[in-house]
Amino acid sequence: MTHGAAVVDPQASVDPSVELGAFVVVHAGVVVGAGCVVQDGAVLGKAPILGAHSRAIGVGDDEPTILEAGCIVGCGAVLVRGCRVGTGAVIGDHVLLRERAQVGAESVVGHGGAVGAGVVIGCRARIQNNVVLAPGTVVEDEVFCGPGVTTTDNPLAGPRALERPGTRLGRGCRIAAGVILLPGADVGEHAIVGAGSVVTRPVPARTVSHGSPARVVRDVGAAEQ
Ligand SMILES: CC(C)(COP(=O)(O)OP(=O)(O)OC[C@H]1O[C@@H](n2cnc3c(N)ncnc32)[C@H](O)[C@@H]1OP(=O)(O)O)[C@@H](O)C(=O)NCCC(=O)NCCS
Repeated sequence: MTHGAAVVDPQASVDPSVELGAFVVVHAGVVVGAGCVVQDGAVLGKAPILGAHSRAIGVGDDEPTILEAGCIVGCGAVLVRGCRVGTGAVIGDHVLLRERAQVGAESVVGHGGAVGAGVVIGCRARIQNNVVLAPGTVVEDEVFCGPGVTTTDNPLAGPRALERPGTRLGRGCRIAAGVILLPGADVGEHAIVGAGSVVTRPVPARTVSHGSPARVVRDVGAAEQ
């Protein structure tokens, strides 16, 4: 294990093959699998900070934080307790993974992303820089989210809003740069949403939508499959 000036809690489990950069902090209950690389200043298994009136789902003191084999965690990333990163996934510099967020095998979350509590990202998804995924968002396998995409939940609808499933981005869909998806604006499998769109209602599978509000303009073409 390469430790630099890392601080590793005795109740963390770090495989001997792991590379830990300088000033990495590994809290109790974190499990880091073989071959992972954790770059300078990353914090793994951090306790969440919740405001006095927070409606966040929270996380138990003993919930593990798991990095499966071969993950890379970039500089300054913060992984809150209870999140899970799948085999070979890449978590970019300064990414925040909130409690119980999951990132599937071989997926990438780009620089500065904020992945909300309980978000589930499938396998081989490509989440570009500065994407914000609201709590409960479900991102299925092989989804592409361009830079600056934002999914939202609805804090104005009262506490029960958080009990509803979050926005679902269907398998293989592509969301272009800067798209905002309002609550309930699920995107169907292999659909495309054009840059800068505001999506206010569900998008059918294999269609192209764009605009504000986004409207379906055509089916996905053969060259775009
Ligand atoms: C989805 C996308 C491919 C659609 O582009 P397209 O195939 O050229 O557009 P369509 O043929 O379906 O529609 C053409 C019309 O819609 C308009 N249009 C295209 N994209 C639009 C958008 N995102 N928002 C609003 N209008 C758009 C065009 O101006 C054109 O209008 P006109 O006929 O009045 O001139 C494109 O909007 C897009 O988002 N590209 C990806 C950019 C990106 O984010 N890449 C990844 C980040 S690195």
